[in-house]
Amino acid sequence: MKLAILGKGKTGRYVTELLQDQDQIEYKVFDSKRPATLEDLKSFDVCLSFLTGEVFVSYIDILTESGICVVTGSTGFEFNDFQLANIQSGDAAWIKANNFSLGMNIVKQMIEVMSLAPKLFDDYKCSIHEIHHTKKLDAPSGTALSWSDWLDLPNHITSERTGDVVGTHTLTLETQTEKISLTHEALDRSIFAKGAIWAVKKVRTLEPGLHDFSKIALSTLLEEK
Ligand SMILES: NC(=O)c1ccc[n+]([C@@H]2O[C@H](COP(=O)([O-])OP(=O)(O)OC[C@H]3O[C@@H](n4cnc5c(N)ncnc54)[C@H](OP(=O)(O)O)[C@@H]3O)[C@@H](O)[C@H]2O)c1
Repeated sequence: MKLAILGKGKTGRYVTELLQDQDQIEYKVFDSKRPATLEDLKSFDVCLSFLTGEVFVSYIDILTESGICVVTGSTGFEFNDFQLANIQSGDAAWIKANNFSLGMNIVKQMIEVMSLAPKLFDDYKCSIHEIHHTKKLDAPSGTALSWSDWLDLPNHITSERTGDVVGTHTLTLETQTEKISLTHEALDRSIFAKGAIWAVKKVRTLEPGLHDFSKIALSTLLEEK
């Protein structure tokens, strides 16, 4: 497979590191000094973007015109109606991810089971604690807010900022007599690159049009053995 990688910044550079030992993917990286043209893109099977959202938006038209599959982790933008219509009527599959962590899809299933707690317990408390590096500006994290939504029960979120922690989230469900804790710990920033490469391998097996990464990962998780 021939892969065009757009952006080799803080996240994109992990993709190239992981691809060193995967000979089935031949890749080329484009950056601000060497932007990709329509002609460049046409010679690839798949494009993976770790551009910032603003820059990715400037590529959407030539990506649709190129007809190649696209996997994008770029955040901070929305497709407009015209772009969406072009993607949906084209022949290529696209995957968009807000979070490329594969394990988060397993966690989502677990949280949905924990959300059934009121069926068994009259009296329980739920709390979410998230820990991140000191450079993270937002609190609580977007992931903690997603967990809270998935749980859909009253809960209290606390945040901690320390050292270079990539991201640790713990959900605790406590009754008078028992305590259940579910922790997801991102061990390394390459977590996003791993999920992105998984999506790059998957995208050509999908129907044309725009797909959400978490839905694709979940349907793989839940498919019959
Ligand atoms: N979905 C997820 O799981 C996930 C995880 C982490 C990050 N993200 C998102 O991924 C995006 C990138 O994050 P980052 O932290 O890696 O950003 P970054 O460090 O700023 O990297 C951006 C890259 O884009 C390149 N670039 C800029 N203009 C370009 C152009 N016209 N053509 C080609 N390349 C160009 C830059 O090139 P130079 O190197 O030449 O400057 C740089 O390599 C953000 O939107 C972030 O939120 C998503």
